[in-house]
Amino acid sequence: MKILVVGGGGREHALCWKIKQSPLVGKLYCAPGNAGIADVAECVDIGAEDVPALVDFAIEQAIDLVVVGPEAPLVAGLSDRLRAIGIPVFGPSSAAAQVEASKAFTKALCDRANIPTARYGKFTDPADAKAFLDELSPPYVLKADGLAAGKGVVIPETREAAESEIDEMMSGKFGEAGKTLVIEEFLKGEEASVFALCDGTTAMPLIAAQDHKRAFDGDEGPNTGGMGAYSPTPVAGHAVIRKTMDEIVMPAIRTLAAEGTPYSGVLYAGLMIGEDGPRLIEFNARFGDPECQILMMRMLSDIVPYLQACATGELGQMPPISWHGSAAVTVVMAANGYPGSYEKGTEIKGVEDANTLDQVTVFHAGTKRGTSGELLANGGRVLNVTAKGNSYREAIDRAYQAVDRIDWPGGFCRRDIGWRALKASG
Ligand code: AMP
Ligand code: GLY
Repeated sequence: MKILVVGGGGREHALCWKIKQSPLVGKLYCAPGNAGIADVAECVDIGAEDVPALVDFAIEQAIDLVVVGPEAPLVAGLSDRLRAIGIPVFGPSSAAAQVEASKAFTKALCDRANIPTARYGKFTDPADAKAFLDELSPPYVLKADGLAAGKGVVIPETREAAESEIDEMMSGKFGEAGKTLVIEEFLKGEEASVFALCDGTTAMPLIAAQDHKRAFDGDEGPNTGGMGAYSPTPVAGHAVIRKTMDEIVMPAIRTLAAEGTPYSGVLYAGLMIGEDGPRLIEFNARFGDPECQILMMRMLSDIVPYLQACATGELGQMPPISWHGSAAVTVVMAANGYPGSYEKGTEIKGVEDANTLDQVTVFHAGTKRGTSGELLANGGRVLNVTAKGNSYREAIDRAYQAVDRIDWPGGFCRRDIGWRALKASG
């Protein structure tokens, strides 16, 4: 069969790498792809958000399945357009992708489906927003309603700071995304993410992962898209995954289906796990990046029948996915300066050498080839050095052994990815 993957980051490299291993796949395309993806798929020069061009390409090439990586094309209606012309697609409709695009939508869904989450209020008037602070105790969690490139959440420690932040957010600090504000109770606990495949009416758990959002060692510095991740997670074992499916994922799937906006694709539940179990912080309508990279490394089953079953509503007939039981970790190498301003075009050497290490795969995020075939950085997050092992220690050591073979003066990585898992496993 012919498959088109949409996107060009580390998540899409991992998806292409895994899909390519399936005996069911004849031809694999990726739009737009990157230098690493070009080793496993034919890259097509169409942007991930160019919905009309993607649809035209899928028709011209008679694509059998489109797999959408990032959220933007989902929110823009790529899945709806493809479904309307009978092309199977892995990824939710624009209406169902609101679980990620609107925090207020998800909070209201939690109310209707009785999903455990932080108490909240939704405001379009700053005075009402400030009055609601009376009902909470600090720190306060303020969220721009719309998509704000992962930056729309601010957690002020004091009432005074919260009030001035409300004024800034509601007067356009995050553009339109912040005009509607969600204010939440602060949840205590440890964060983890559980991923589930969904076909509109049923869901199947994948595994859990934890990422490191801060830029620097010791979980210090500014928030980023994720500087590394590991799986499994000591804090979200089988019991927590089960509870997440029963109390969070399935109620959402049933409610969305009953309301005429069935959810298919992967549902990413960002959780705060406290003493009373998992509570939902956010849903995303896609795989996590870099969490997807470790999911693909740990997955033993052929992924393609599962992606197809999600697209066609036949997930209920599929056997559970089998997984590599021990640990996987991914270390993000980013351009110096990320998540602030950074240089593009610096040369990276040693990736092939790193890739020869046992149980190691280096996924590319922002990379491209130079005129003489040399590898160049082409984004903020650039490489995801991913490794498996029989223990967290083994996986982490392998990943850093591979990192040390990569010669890239223009980049940096954290040296402590997985520290929580190492601590918990003694
Ligand atoms: P979100 O974009 O909703 O995932 O929020 C970004 C980050 O803010 C999360 O990963 C948490 O670290 C933190 N956060 C969000 N909501 C809460 C909450 N209700 N209580 C505590 N921390 C939160
Ligand atoms: N790594 C976090 C995310 O993909 O949203």
